[in-house]
Formats: sequence, structure tokens, C-alpha cells
Amino acid sequence: MPKNQPPTYRIAPSILSADFARLGEEIKAVIAAGADWIHFDVMDNHYVPNLTFGPMICQALKPHAKKADGTPVPVDVHLMVQPVDALAAAFADAGADLISFHPEASGHVHRSVQAIKAKGCKAGVVFNPATPLDVLDWVIEDIDLILIMSVNPGFGGQSFIDSALRKIEQARKRIEASGKDIRLEVDGGIKADNIARVAAAGADTFVAGSAIFGKPDYKAVIDAMRAELVK
Ligand code: DX5
Ligand code: ZN
Repeated sequence: MPKNQPPTYRIAPSILSADFARLGEEIKAVIAAGADWIHFDVMDNHYVPNLTFGPMICQALKPHAKKADGTPVPVDVHLMVQPVDALAAAFADAGADLISFHPEASGHVHRSVQAIKAKGCKAGVVFNPATPLDVLDWVIEDIDLILIMSVNPGFGGQSFIDSALRKIEQARKRIEASGKDIRLEVDGGIKADNIARVAAAGADTFVAGSAIFGKPDYKAVIDAMRAELVK
């Protein structure tokens, strides 16, 4: 977000909590309900103790990631995999628009960022609840997105960890100091009743899985989140 301008908030529903038997329809429904991005959680049963979906499913879903008028909706791939680079390239080929990875899972963080960008995707780095932001000293000039985990990665439906708020504040300061247009995304335990606090700390992009897909009316939840953001 450029300095002195109000943030453009983005809501990124995580399809981890969607009905896996109807993923295409779920994506259409959540876009019709107002989703700005589609958050795609890739877990490998190695870096995290859960297993989700690979690039073939991303490729199959990509045509559904558009609004009724045909405008594309960005596919935001969150890699919880180790190693990073080969799968990042496969997801770029499968239609990802943004690809984020955990620095702990990459042998060479700078190289992974460059590999993602070389494929024409936006690159992000993800920080677990107990991971410091130090790596940003060396890659902030090269990235498009910082993703702060407010739960430990691996599962939907966990509770928001409050120390993430301090980390969001620190990340926002680093973004301002860099002068770059970098999105600050938060992932885990986001609901209408805490999104305002998370935005006040400096976040501009909000992942929400169970809060949206766990409810019958996706639009009601997304509208309630946006109402909290304009208060
Ligand atoms: C957790 C994933 C999240 C998850 C969030 O490892 O990265 O994106 O889907 O789920 P909720 O919003 O239910 O905490
Ligand atoms: Zn995620």
C-alpha cells in the first residue's frame, strides 16, 4: 500500500475448508460472494503434518477463478512444502498468480524468490508464529507479499495467536521503510470479530477458511468482514 493512502483490503478465502467434492462450484460461489483472491493451501505431509492438493488440482480449478464478467481472480498459492523450488515452478505452470513459501523450507531463500519471479508470478515469504522477520533484511527488495501466520501451519479452524499482531506491526514498519508496494497478508483464525484488530496492526490482506466455508451464507460473512474494515 503506498504511503498516506487508505489500504485496499483483500479477502482471500482458503479453500482448505471448502467441500472438496465440489471445489469448482465452491470457488465460483465464494467469488460471487465477494472473494478478492482464492487462497490455495498446499501441504506435503513433510513440512507440515497434513496433505492437500497439488498442481494438477490448481490447473483444474484455475478456469473457475474468475468473476461472472470474466475478470480473473488471483490464485494465491501458499506452499507448505519442502523443498520449495520444483513445486513452485509446477504451480506457476498450473496458473498460480502469487506463490508464497516458508523460508525454513527452502535451502536458498533468495533463489526460491527469483525462481518464482522468473516464472512471472508474484513472490511471497511466510512467517510462522515463532519465526522472526530477519530474512526480510535480505529479500524485501525482491518480494511482493509478506504472509504472517497467526496459527501454526497445517490445519484450518485453529485459534488466532495474538503475538501475530506485534509481528504484523513490525512487518508493516519494514514495508514502509522499503518504500515498496508489498501486500501484508495474515493467515489463521481470522473472523469478522477480530479482522479489525488485525487491520489496525497493519495487515491489508486476510485469509479466512473456516470462518467463510464453515457457514451457509458466504456473502454474509464476507460482507461482515468488510463492514468491520470500514468502521
Ligand atoms: C493453515 C492454512 C490456512 C487455513 C486457515 O495452515 O495456511 O490458510 O486454511 O484456516 P482458518 O481460517 O480456518 O484458520
Ligand atoms: Zn494458508
